Amino acid sequence: MRDGRFVSLSREEDPREWERLVASDDAIATQIKDGMWPVSSSSAPSIMAEMIDALELSAGMRVLEIGTGTGYNAACMAALGAEVVSVEIDREAADHARDSLRAAGHSDVVVITGNGEVGAPAHGPFDRVIATAAAHTLPHAWVKQTKAGGLIVVPWAATFRPDGPLAILKVNADATAEGRFTAPAWFMPLRGQGLPQAVLQETEERWIKAGRPDCTRYGITVTPTGQVIWLDSPDSPIDR
Ligand SMILES: C[S@@+](CC[C@H](N)C(=O)[O-])C[C@H]1O[C@@H](n2cnc3c(N)ncnc32)[C@H](O)[C@@H]1O
Repeated sequence: MRDGRFVSLSREEDPREWERLVASDDAIATQIKDGMWPVSSSSAPSIMAEMIDALELSAGMRVLEIGTGTGYNAACMAALGAEVVSVEIDREAADHARDSLRAAGHSDVVVITGNGEVGAPAHGPFDRVIATAAAHTLPHAWVKQTKAGGLIVVPWAATFRPDGPLAILKVNADATAEGRFTAPAWFMPLRGQGLPQAVLQETEERWIKAGRPDCTRYGITVTPTGQVIWLDSPDSPIDR
C-alpha cells in the first residue's frame, strides 16, 4: 500500500522490495477487485501462527483448510506434519498455489478448486478445519466432516463486534459444535458471505450500547439446523 492505494509489485521487477514484503509481518494482497477490494492475499504471518497454534496440531492430523490463497498457510501446516486438503474458490489462485506448493516441496498438499462452504466430503473426515476467510454463517458441512473432539478455527465477520474475532469450536459426536471467540483477527470475507458496509456501523453501535463486551465473553453453538451466538453462556443468545 502507498498513500492508501494498492501498488503492484512483481518479484522480477523489484526483487528487493518483494523480499522485504514477504519477510515482513504484513498481509500481502495478491488479487484486487475493482482496483480497491482485496479478494485474495497472503495473511500476516503472526496471524497465521496464532491460528495454527489455536488448531493444536499434531503430526499426522488431517486438516481441511478453506481459502488456499498463496498456499503459504497450507505449507506451514504441512511442514508441521499435517495432511492438508485445501479448498480455493478462485481458479487462478488455486492453480498458482498448487505450483508454489510443489516448488516448495509440499506436493502432498491437496488443493481443490471449488467452494469451501461444502468442505471436501471425499477427503474427510478431518481432525481440524481452518478457514482463512471470514464467515458470518458457519457451514454445517464443516462440522459434519470433522471428527468428534476435532476443532474448527474460523475468523468471524463483524456481526456482533466490529473487529472480527476468531472463533474456536470443538465438534461433538452428535454433529453439533460449540466454542468461544478469542482475539480479533480481521479477514476478508468468504466469497458469498460479504456484509454491506452499513452492517459494520450497526455492529459497532450495538456493541458500544452493550457496554463493549470483551471478545472472550462471546461464544457460538452450531447445530444441523442453525447457529446461535451468545454472551457468557449458551443460555444468553444475543440478537445480532
Ligand atoms: C486471506 S486469503 C487466504 C490466505 C491463505 N491461506 C494463504 O496462506 O495465503 C482468503 C482466500 O479465501 C478464498 N476464498 C474466499 N471464499 C472462498 C470460498 N467460499 N471457498 C474457498 N475459498 C474461498 C479467496 O479466494 C482467498 O484466496
